[in-house]
Amino acid sequence: MADQIAVLFVCLGNICRSPLAEAAFRRELAGRGLTATIESAGTGGWHAGHPPDPRAQRVARLQGVEIGGYRARQVVAADFRAFTHILALDSRNLADLKAQRPRDAAARIGLLLDHVPGREGQSVADPYYGDEAGFLVTWDEVSLAAAGLARALFP
Ligand code: 4NP
Repeated sequence: MADQIAVLFVCLGNICRSPLAEAAFRRELAGRGLTATIESAGTGGWHAGHPPDPRAQRVARLQGVEIGGYRARQVVAADFRAFTHILALDSRNLADLKAQRPRDAAARIGLLLDHVPGREGQSVADPYYGDEAGFLVTWDEVSLAAAGLARALFP
């Protein structure tokens, strides 16, 4: 049996985009009868211990997904050994992850939208300073990426 896949989704605050990516990927794998370790984290620690943004919670709930129990945390060095794949939500998150990657890191680090045909190299826009409609766009993007990622990791 293949080694257990462990995926960490990373944005800046871990209260908007990466919790939605975590939720979408959890749902994607559950629908396919697959299992993996799935978490999310932020490159910044300002919101550590906080639940997801209320707008993210509402948008997830509209999709039938409950994320109110999630709690934000900051990326730590051990993540680079514990996870097989670390997916950045935007290019700044990706650059920050590469800068803090320990020399013995096992995890593959990449950009989430690289798993959406036609969106390679693009960032999931930060909806934090916008209105709730932006979170609907985020959900659509992370759901598309979750499906592509599942196909890539479980061919
Ligand atoms: P996220 O959004 O990175 O998608 O969780 C943000 C949340 C909080 C802040 C920035 C982005 N902030 O500056 O507090």
